[in-house]
Amino acid sequence: MRTHYILVTGANQGIGYGIVRRLCNEHPDWTIYGTSRSAANGEEAAKKLQSEGLKAEFLEADLTKPETFAAVKEKLTKDHGGLDILINNAGMAFKNASTDPYAVKAEVTLATNVFGTNMVCDTLFPILKDGARVVVLSSMRAPMSLHKVKKLNPERYASFIKNDPPLTRTEVLQAMTDFVSAVKAGDFAEKGWPDDEAYSVSKLGDTLLARAYQQEFNSVSERDIVVNAACPGYVMTSMSSHKGHLTIDEGADTPYYLAVLPPNTEIRGQHVSKRQIVKWE
Ligand SMILES: NC(=O)c1ccc[n+]([C@@H]2O[C@H](COP(=O)([O-])OP(=O)(O)OC[C@H]3O[C@@H](n4cnc5c(N)ncnc54)[C@H](OP(=O)(O)O)[C@@H]3O)[C@@H](O)[C@H]2O)c1
Repeated sequence: MRTHYILVTGANQGIGYGIVRRLCNEHPDWTIYGTSRSAANGEEAAKKLQSEGLKAEFLEADLTKPETFAAVKEKLTKDHGGLDILINNAGMAFKNASTDPYAVKAEVTLATNVFGTNMVCDTLFPILKDGARVVVLSSMRAPMSLHKVKKLNPERYASFIKNDPPLTRTEVLQAMTDFVSAVKAGDFAEKGWPDDEAYSVSKLGDTLLARAYQQEFNSVSERDIVVNAACPGYVMTSMSSHKGHLTIDEGADTPYYLAVLPPNTEIRGQHVSKRQIVKWE
């Protein structure tokens, strides 16, 4: 198999670091990049990998700063002519104990997890090589918040689960914008959005985006580009205040599996947990 060029966002710690380590271990001849918001954290992660005899390069990039991903695109294009695997792992969550207003949580969380992830995809999709695999880190919170939406707003739920075709990327982003606006206006309950669920709604947005991206690539089926959403499980990372029951290596397993799906796989535009497709209803 020819060498592959890979990018994992938010890879200096947590599940992203676990994914990079797995890729390095399984594919020592591939060229693996991680992104880190801070150069120092990236260097530290690279050194940690080096101490295990593994090699990855870290690039500084922030999901809330599009120019940083434009620079990443330029480098990958110049050095390698594009990208074979993109893993959208970077994400954030307010702590359960946070007393920030719901409006702040909704705006900040979606800015990174949904609009930031979409910005990365917008920037890097033009350089995806044929046969590329794209993974978006979602969560079990996505189907959980879908069930809340089902109770609160059956019409919206019906639009979220329809699959032939699924919501477009523009429609998903509009729904997510409407969520933030409703929370800011204080009428989210009347509009049928759940209370104090910014992170869960953001992960629902990520899964809906993965389905929408796949739909876009289906129109160029000969390129065999595959996009899926990965649920890593409840993982011991700083996001979960180290309460998760899975190690980062265990959390990295489903994202890794989706990143190396074989040619012409039927797993496309799915929400996948423990390597199994989760039925989206
Ligand atoms: N842990 C879980 O149980 C769990 C469960 C389901 C889904 N997930 C998802 O898995 C992914 C990784 O989570 P994790 O638990 O590994 O979290 P983590 O340990 O907190 O790591 C998150 C990574 O994302 C980076 N990041 C945060 N905001 C960013 C931004 N604006 N721009 C660029 N990078 C940013 C962080 O950078 P810094 O180091 O600079 O903060 C860090 O590298 C997330 O998408 C999360 O939603 C996690």
